[in-house]
Amino acid sequence: MSQGLVTVSYIAASILFILSLSGLSNQETARRGNYYGMMGMAIAIVATVMSDAVTSYTILIIALLIGGLIGGRAAFKVEMTQMPELVAIMHSLVGMAAVFVGYATFMDSTSTLSGVEKTIHEVEIYIGILIGSITFSGSIIAFGKLCGKLSGRSVLLPARHWLNLGLLLAVIWLGGAFLAEAEIGGGYWPLIMMTIIALVFGVHMVLAIGGADMPVVVSMLNSYSGWAAAATGFMLSNDLLIVTGALVGSSGAILSYIMCRAMNRNFISVIAGGFGSTSGGAAAEIEGDVQPIEVDETVQMLHDANNIIIIPGYGMAVAQAQHTVNEIAKLLGSQGKTVRFGIHPVAGRMPGHMNVLLAEAKVPYDIVYEMDEINDDFPKVDVTIVIGANDIVNPSALEDPNSPIAGMPVLECWKGHATIVLKRSMASGYAGVGNPLFVHENTRMLFGDANESLQLVLKKLQNW
Ligand code: TAP
Repeated sequence: MSQGLVTVSYIAASILFILSLSGLSNQETARRGNYYGMMGMAIAIVATVMSDAVTSYTILIIALLIGGLIGGRAAFKVEMTQMPELVAIMHSLVGMAAVFVGYATFMDSTSTLSGVEKTIHEVEIYIGILIGSITFSGSIIAFGKLCGKLSGRSVLLPARHWLNLGLLLAVIWLGGAFLAEAEIGGGYWPLIMMTIIALVFGVHMVLAIGGADMPVVVSMLNSYSGWAAAATGFMLSNDLLIVTGALVGSSGAILSYIMCRAMNRNFISVIAGGFGSTSGGAAAEIEGDVQPIEVDETVQMLHDANNIIIIPGYGMAVAQAQHTVNEIAKLLGSQGKTVRFGIHPVAGRMPGHMNVLLAEAKVPYDIVYEMDEINDDFPKVDVTIVIGANDIVNPSALEDPNSPIAGMPVLECWKGHATIVLKRSMASGYAGVGNPLFVHENTRMLFGDANESLQLVLKKLQNW
């Protein structure tokens, strides 16, 4: 394929990726956005495979087959609840690729660059390997935290800010040494030292971020993987990789900002670590009596209610209760009741997790509200049903300054007339903190798997 045709294909793919992103910003157009993205990627792969840059089809086909098989298997096998850790491990692969491409480009003896161009190329390599290494090790730790192999709590080393500053200064100094050594045909030792420091920094940065702040890490590593891909694009002089990487990098950065705002966190403070750990005193113990409720009484309360809000959380994803929830919402709506969904921005384990599940169950978009749109309405609500949510409805975020989630806005359902919480036990949520909502005077606990409980509720409502 001629270079001109490759360039045209890359421009077409870039436009499709931009259309894809804009489609994904809205639930009604998200499906179309995905199709655009798939088309863009197909064009990009075909154009790259057919380009003159490819000299051996054997290696390429073997790599495509291995990658395709692993990706296909993961797509079929991975449960919806494991999606966040899959995304994290994918980010680590992007980081690893950037590191390998960086070293391979540096070792490339066929390069004819000289003078300023050579220096710029070496800076690209240095930065590419730096971002790639941080993305790689940070994503591995995020994977461990998201799938529960590592504790979700923040691990804070003494003098961690000084440690981070020291690592940053070392990276800058090694960068100077690398450029100077590369000039005379060396440069490996500063590059390897920097790689080790960047790997350590990635581990340290993610370990220091505590449970409830993990959403910021997920979106931040998403952003880093984009910049790592863009750096790879610079090293390989591939415009499409630069554009795509910049799109992922900037959209991930915007998402991180949105996540921080949703959690009422300062971005720099989250990255520096330490949020999500208690500050000063100990979090208050949860005291009070739990008031359990049975299915019959739940049905009676729903029958008597006019204004109902449903708050889904991670437990709805675990129980796969979204279809039953939709049936119940439809049934109650058909009886003339106002039924709405309240979605917290960090509910579940990945951005938009609840929206995806509700869309899958075909819940109409016009009854799905963001936290800010619905939070003031709780005093007028007769019954709130909390389905497998915990941290996102925890009043201590607002009332206990020593709580690890202090300051995080939450859905204030306890201000309503009654709240029914569906969960299996009194266990804490992702942030590992007790929840006073469960012993609130207006709260009743319906214990059991959310889907099993809701199936019983649905059956009784249908036979009412
Ligand atoms: P969580 O606070 O994790 O609470 C989920 C609750 O669901 C648990 O307390 C669990 O209690 C219950 N549960 C689990 N399986 C269930 C089942 N089969 N049936 C009924 N209940 C079940 O979830 P949340 O309220 O959605 O809050 C999200 C948390 O995850 C926040 O701390 C957030 O910061 C963090 N996080 C979010 C993201 C993103 S991007 N959204 C990423 C990483 C971390 P039982 O065990 O007693 O049933």
